Amino acid sequence: MCGIVAYIGKKEAYPIIVKGLKRLEYRGYDSAGIALLNNNGLNIYKKQGKVSNLEDFTHDKDKMGYAGIGHTRWATHGPPNDVNSHPHSSEDGDIALIHNGIIENYDAIKQRLTNNGYKFKSDTDTEVLTYLIDDIKKNSSVSVAEAVRLALQQVVGAYAIVVISKSNPNQLVAARKSSPLVLGIGKENDFYLASDATPIVEYTKKVVYMEDEEIAIVDLDEGLKLYSIDDVEKTPYVQELELQLEALEKGGYEHFMLKEIHEQPRSIKDCFRGRLNAEKGWVSLGGIKDYEDKMTKANRIIMIACGTSWHAGLVGEYLFEDLARINVEVEYASEFRYRNPIINENDIVIAISQSGETADTLAALELAKSKGATILGICNVVGSSISRITDAGSYTHAGPEIGVASTKAFTAQVTVLTLMALSLAKIKGTINETKFRTMLSELEAIPQKVQQILDKNEDIKIISEKYQGASNALYLGRGSSFPVALEGALKLKEISYIHAEGYPAAEMKHGPIALIDEAMPVFVIATSGPSYEKLVSNIQEVKARKGKLIAIVTEGDEQVHEIADHTIDIPDTDEHLVPLLATIPLQLLSYHIAVMRNCNVDQPRNLAKSVTVE
Ligand code: AGP
Repeated sequence: MCGIVAYIGKKEAYPIIVKGLKRLEYRGYDSAGIALLNNNGLNIYKKQGKVSNLEDFTHDKDKMGYAGIGHTRWATHGPPNDVNSHPHSSEDGDIALIHNGIIENYDAIKQRLTNNGYKFKSDTDTEVLTYLIDDIKKNSSVSVAEAVRLALQQVVGAYAIVVISKSNPNQLVAARKSSPLVLGIGKENDFYLASDATPIVEYTKKVVYMEDEEIAIVDLDEGLKLYSIDDVEKTPYVQELELQLEALEKGGYEHFMLKEIHEQPRSIKDCFRGRLNAEKGWVSLGGIKDYEDKMTKANRIIMIACGTSWHAGLVGEYLFEDLARINVEVEYASEFRYRNPIINENDIVIAISQSGETADTLAALELAKSKGATILGICNVVGSSISRITDAGSYTHAGPEIGVASTKAFTAQVTVLTLMALSLAKIKGTINETKFRTMLSELEAIPQKVQQILDKNEDIKIISEKYQGASNALYLGRGSSFPVALEGALKLKEISYIHAEGYPAAEMKHGPIALIDEAMPVFVIATSGPSYEKLVSNIQEVKARKGKLIAIVTEGDEQVHEIADHTIDIPDTDEHLVPLLATIPLQLLSYHIAVMRNCNVDQPRNLAKSVTVE
């Protein structure tokens, strides 16, 4: 996600925009930039790093301007640096544009514009959109607003954009699709635009939440006009803002963690956006395309990671081995780097890391590289250290994860691993076309199934209340739900400080069953599938010892409903995709228990979001 802010009116735009960008830095802080319009023209300033870097850079520059657009970047295309920062401008400097989102078909548009003589300065999809608008404006002799509308009709993907133009000094043009954009109506015939209401709320409470494929023109003389992308004028629906600033930064949620749990339908969709098409039957991970052949021929793939990312790797092991029949080893990076592992040039090592900065994972990767292995990455932060040293990789596009406890990054990592496994299985022919297509359709349906589970939040909160006082907890699962049990246990212990352990369900009788009594909540993932009957037996073993049983089951389940103390139903899906769904109730259970225990959910004691030291 990126943060965008814009203003046009009688006040000085610079302070409004910079202050607003600081309010949006939680959405991304790789770089920041601003374009200001005054009688001398359009001044554009942009720098890698946080908004404070931009302030330092502009301290002696011309910052006057009654209109401006500003951007704080979360890199998706092109590493964080000055040239990739927004705003991007047309070659003649007449228009400047800021963008939050992903243009999926930017490459095809870029090729066409390059053939027409355009020379691109950056690696970004946003610059392509800027040039496309400029190309249409010039060749069709239309207004900026009309050029924006025509350009967006060619675009596939997500966008929230604001365009400012020297030749059109009285107005800003904005548009959105899939990325949020809020319009604030000021008290002095002035207008504000931002990714959410936090930069706007101190100036006005009158807002318009723009809808998908809407274009807004805010004009100092004409006021606000709203159109559909098909050029049909619409009546703006003006609302009164109720939320206070603090709540707004969290999107109205009490904590970033809860917000990020609820972002998962979008983040999973963003993760596979442009990478799969169930109808046409293709999966395409551009970042590793050149290495897929080598991956299918590798004698093994080693996944290295820490914490939650290591759990994602374990899910990956089940996926790669079962679907693509490739031998996978999953290693704690901290152990791998010190045990003098046997690595050679036939090996492929995949590092999984949300931050892309975890010291142990980085060091393990460097060790693998030094021994000639091919090294790939699955990261969430574009331009992070791990993403920079790998030969190739796939970004998870989950957007900034602020809560220390990883949630949406985990499901995004599992989504990328699922796409990789399916792509490799397709190349190797280890699954038939029917199975392949079915899995693609099921994967495309995951975001709405996640939403169905999120809609049970209140029921899950009621269950959480019964176990907030527990001192210990056990999490059990089989197959690819075993790593989900580990992840559920990690979530609980790291934010509620309750001791929790995850185990393969069958392992319980080899020791942990001695722990079970009426004070021990046992969370079991008992969804339909090949291990279901065995899980029912494990559940009966727990009940026989008076353990409290909370089971995650497939909708329509009857057997477990008869035995368990509590059940949480999740939608049916292909067995390989269950981890993407079964994780959600465990995230919510941990969150609510931690809140009830008055723990600092977003910044748990002793933890850091990125462990950049050993
Ligand atoms: C998970 O909730 C924790 N925040 C932690 O285990 C984390 O997954 C681990 O430190 C790895 O971080 P990374 O994904 O950024 O490498």
